[in-house]
This record gives sequence, C-alpha cells and structure tokens, in this order.
Amino acid sequence: MPEYNNHVIEAAAKEGYAIPAFNYSDIWEHGAIVQAAAEERAIVYTASNMRVAGSIGLPYLGAIGAAAHAVSGGHIFNHLDHSSSVELCKQAVDSGYHSVMIDASMCSLEENIAKTKEVVAYAHAHGVVVEAEIGRILGRNVEGTYEGDDYLVQVKDAVAMAEETGVDSLAVGIGTAHGFYKEEPRINLERLKEVHAHVNIPLVLHGGTGVPYDTVRACIANGMAKVNVGTLLHGCYVETLRERMKTWDGTNISDLMEPVRDAIKEKVREWIRVCNANNRI
Ligand code: 13P
Repeated sequence: MPEYNNHVIEAAAKEGYAIPAFNYSDIWEHGAIVQAAAEERAIVYTASNMRVAGSIGLPYLGAIGAAAHAVSGGHIFNHLDHSSSVELCKQAVDSGYHSVMIDASMCSLEENIAKTKEVVAYAHAHGVVVEAEIGRILGRNVEGTYEGDDYLVQVKDAVAMAEETGVDSLAVGIGTAHGFYKEEPRINLERLKEVHAHVNIPLVLHGGTGVPYDTVRACIANGMAKVNVGTLLHGCYVETLRERMKTWDGTNISDLMEPVRDAIKEKVREWIRVCNANNRI
C-alpha cells in the first residue's frame, strides 16, 4: 500500500511552488520525465490518461510507476489523469497508483460530488490521494458546448466539492484548455483568487501547454499547487522523431529514440523550473 502523499502538494502550496505533472504515452516519454526530475532534483507526477491506461494496461503502468518511485527515492508519483470512470480509479488504486483523478465535471454537481466521494472512500482506505474537477477544462475531449463563461468554476461549487467529498486537490476551470491554443489563452485570475480564498485544499492547473510562463507563475501564486503539462511533450516527441527518421539507417531503435527522449527531457526540465520545483530534494 503506498504511503498517503498529499503532503507533497500541500508543502508545495505552502512554499509557493507547484508540483509539475507530466503526461506520458510510452516508456521513452516516461524515462525522459524520470531523468529530468532527477537532474533538476524535483518532485514530479507522471500521469497516464484513460487512453494510455487502457492501451498499455493499469497493472503494467502501476509497476512502472512503483519502479520510478523507488529509483527516485520516493520523489516520483504515479497518477491516473482524467478518469471519468469510478471503476477505473479503483483499478488504478489496486494497481499501485499513488494518485487518481476522478473527472465527473461533465455531470451535475450532485453526481460529481457522489462519484468523487466514492473514489475518495476507496482511495483513502488504500493510502492513495484523489484529485477532482469542478468547472471545465476546455479543449480536446470536452463533451458538450459551453456558452459564455459556463466553463468557469463557480466558487460555491468548489467549496461544496471540497467540503463534502474530502478530496485532496481540485482542478478548476479558469480558462485553460487541453492541447495547443489557437489564440492566447484568457485565464480568469480573479476567479482563481476567489476560489483560493474560499477553498482550503490545493488547486490544480490543467492545460499547461501554451500558457505563458508569467501566467503560470501568477496562477501558482494564487493557489495552483500542481501544474499539468502534456501536449507540448508529445509535440516535441513527434517533431524530433520525424527529423531523426530522415537520417536513420534502420538498424537500431535506440539511435532514433534517445534523441527523442533527450529533447523531451529538456522541455520537462524547463517546466520544472517554470513551476519553481527544481532543487527541492
Ligand atoms: P496540455 O496537454 O494542454 O498540456 O494539458 C495537460 C493536462 O492538463 C492533462 O490533464
């Protein structure tokens, strides 16, 4: 059973930095994150979404996460990202994940609270922390359409979510989106400040890719204690791979993939520093 670890994010919140959470799709991306974290002496989350968890398998990813945790001296945590399924969250807990996110933000507030409560009860009994979502993160994979400011977190909903569920951290919709932005993101810092003033658990910034660094830092200063980044790593992966393919002699996959890993590693290192999470261990 993993040791309950929300103190990691809580400590970051107190000390004014954020724990970065990086999405990975395969062992090369995962390895890049692990190496970058060691070089930057940072505590990080590695995050698999439902698609990755489904295609590679939770028991296998749980074992890789446990291995990364062990080789890092307990500083890398394995996280299931955006699971709309309560069952999948429970399976991740059973597979040794350190942290799970139940994302029922597409449901009514009552349903979102009920699902989150169910995951919290199961996860906490197994030493696992839980993140939930309130308001909506825009962009890729968002169901439904949102008129005007509908996606924005409502302060009273965030308070209800935090108080009624016992959840450990809360992803809040303040205008960020998953994927590349078509235009400069419009982040509602005022709403973030209001939520932060009323909710006393750490908040989570999703959709890190493309958010200007100064804005990320302003969000961290106002309660965002975990920052999620994914798309830019995957973009870097594909661009570097495409370039390397041009000169690859077709014999050794490592010749192709080591430069990919190293390019991703540089992006991860950069984001660790944006979160002011370097030199923490
Ligand atoms: P990006 O892919 O936009 O960086 O967002 C990552 C994320 O928020 C995962 O939950």
